[in-house]
Amino acid sequence: MQIEGLFPLALGQVQLRPDPLVIARQLQVILELRGAADGNPDPACAWTGDLNGIGQLHRHPAFSGLVDELSHHAAAYLDALGFDRSRLALHLQRCWPVVSEPRQVVGRHHHPNAHLSGVYYLNGDGSGRSGCLRLWPSRQVNELVPGLAVGHDGPFRSNGGPPAGWLQPWVDLAPRAGLFVLFPSSTDHAVMPNDDEEGRFSISLDFALTAPAGVTAAEYLAPHPQEWFPLA
Ligand SMILES: [Fe+2]
Repeated sequence: MQIEGLFPLALGQVQLRPDPLVIARQLQVILELRGAADGNPDPACAWTGDLNGIGQLHRHPAFSGLVDELSHHAAAYLDALGFDRSRLALHLQRCWPVVSEPRQVVGRHHHPNAHLSGVYYLNGDGSGRSGCLRLWPSRQVNELVPGLAVGHDGPFRSNGGPPAGWLQPWVDLAPRAGLFVLFPSSTDHAVMPNDDEEGRFSISLDFALTAPAGVTAAEYLAPHPQEWFPLA
């Protein structure tokens, strides 16, 4: 029998080769922006700039060039999915740093305000020791019985949980310095515990799609923000 994989989630990955001196400067800037805070505010939760007034990192000179490069990759992601970018405007909505100190996590969530999300890693060796990015499918269709693939003592031929492949309940992605990943913003994700002895540094980006300026699109696509009418 052949089993075919249908409806794949589009995970984009680009490995950049950043200058170590540039990364060192960016780490220094993030630590300065974080200041005395180290949790969110729960000490078990990583510090994230979006909750601490640091949501426009792309405007900082230490990051503007990097974010410009990352935005080009976001556009390439849209191309690869088959969108006609002449009929879309891609906006960077916000960009913020995330710092996981040892043992800290980011709980499961998604970004309902955005359409396309990205994460750029400033450090990480690819081992996952500093905390993998965990991605969940919107629905676990192949487990057949709802909850079977994540419950206790599931009836699997492998020991210790569902096997990789059709019944895999999530995918873990290991941080690596210079890696940029992109995924639909509706995708649930989390950051697993940092088991390293050093901080885990990343930058999150939220992109939004609208119609191009001056173009009237159908109701599913918002008009360009310059046509929005502020009421308050
Ligand atoms: Fe997130």
